[in-house]
Amino acid sequence: MTAPHLTGNYAPVSEELTEYELPCTGSIPGELTGWYLRNGPNPHAAASKHWFLGDGMVHGVRLEGGRAVSYRNRWVRTSTFTDGARGIDAQGRRDFTAGVANTHVVRHAGRTLALVESSFPYELTCDLDTVGPHDFDGKLTTAMTAHPKTCPVTGELHFFGYDFREPYLTYHRAGADGTLELSRPIDVPAATMHHDFALTAKHVVFLDLPVLFDLPSAIAGTGMPFKWSDDYRARLGVLRRDDPHGAVRWFDIEPCYIFHTLNAHDEPDRIVLYAFRYRSMWRADSQSFDEPATLWRWTLDLATGGVREEQIDDRAAEFPRIDDRLAGLDSRFGHATVAGDGHGALLRYDLHTGGRTAHEFADGRIPAEAAFAPADETPGGDGYLMTYVYDPGADRSDLVILDATDLAAAPVATIHLPRRVPYGFHGNWLPDH
Ligand SMILES: [Fe+2]
Repeated sequence: MTAPHLTGNYAPVSEELTEYELPCTGSIPGELTGWYLRNGPNPHAAASKHWFLGDGMVHGVRLEGGRAVSYRNRWVRTSTFTDGARGIDAQGRRDFTAGVANTHVVRHAGRTLALVESSFPYELTCDLDTVGPHDFDGKLTTAMTAHPKTCPVTGELHFFGYDFREPYLTYHRAGADGTLELSRPIDVPAATMHHDFALTAKHVVFLDLPVLFDLPSAIAGTGMPFKWSDDYRARLGVLRRDDPHGAVRWFDIEPCYIFHTLNAHDEPDRIVLYAFRYRSMWRADSQSFDEPATLWRWTLDLATGGVREEQIDDRAAEFPRIDDRLAGLDSRFGHATVAGDGHGALLRYDLHTGGRTAHEFADGRIPAEAAFAPADETPGGDGYLMTYVYDPGADRSDLVILDATDLAAAPVATIHLPRRVPYGFHGNWLPDH
């Protein structure tokens, strides 16, 4: 039987296409000029052992003054893609240029980077040609998370790398010009899986959670080499940004797993973190999720050391995004994707009132992560959500643009792509200006 991650719209596509002047229903907002780029696994051997392990393919749409100018999809030409390079070279050393670069596409200091958490990033052009691995002029000595955070105040890029060998976790900061300025190990007791973290204006928050590197499954090569542990303490680690070489303060929390944070911000004597929480992850094996995730809030009391943990919503969702111009600040609105059981929706949370609006897609039409595209210069103001939506009836995908402030309304624009875009991971709207 074919594995679920290789069937339906999870299955890879086999060709790289370039198409111009895409047909559209509705009207593309004229202020949106730039690129929508989204990454995801697309094994070029047409098979992979786990959904997370396929070669990265980026699907991109160019918008310009109300027109959908082009669609392209390209594999990221990593050394693994071109030469079959593995993560450990013939001398037993880690080779961070090897990897699949399949998880995210971000832009910082003028570079567009395709990322996966086990390797170096790969730089791309917006036309999706691969420039090559990016190691910050040789300064980066660990892998790089696929979820770096750009501070909207300083322009710095904050990120980390984690490994199954010590140091298990390393924090990095690059300046607004892209220069790697700081790298330091973060002491954790075991090789845990760190997919994401959080940034505030004053702090970095690490998620040291009970999903541990599992050597037997690494040797067996059957998928993701990680497994849940009932014995490992779940903790959030807080590092002050004004003392980046200082001690990390750890806060115990109830056991859970977090793939994605929505955002975090500072309040007087407190840090507030929003993230999608799983009660556990990969207890039996790493081929399926234990249960859906829901939105939770953790309030860390810096005076007492206590943590308040609250479920914000009971609707299962994932792939949280905000207006990234408010990263680390008190973003009132957050967005997430619902995709399961043949029904899909996009959600918009009002974190200040507890309210929620939704765009429910017609049954069968399944959205992916939605990026926020600002409509103007006001952070947290008007804007659009854009995402690829798969239509199983036509076996094709659309790029759908919704008004984030009127989410339940019909899409502003539905751009019809020449083929389906397989379900994937993360991407960004990269405006020209
Ligand atoms: Fe992710």
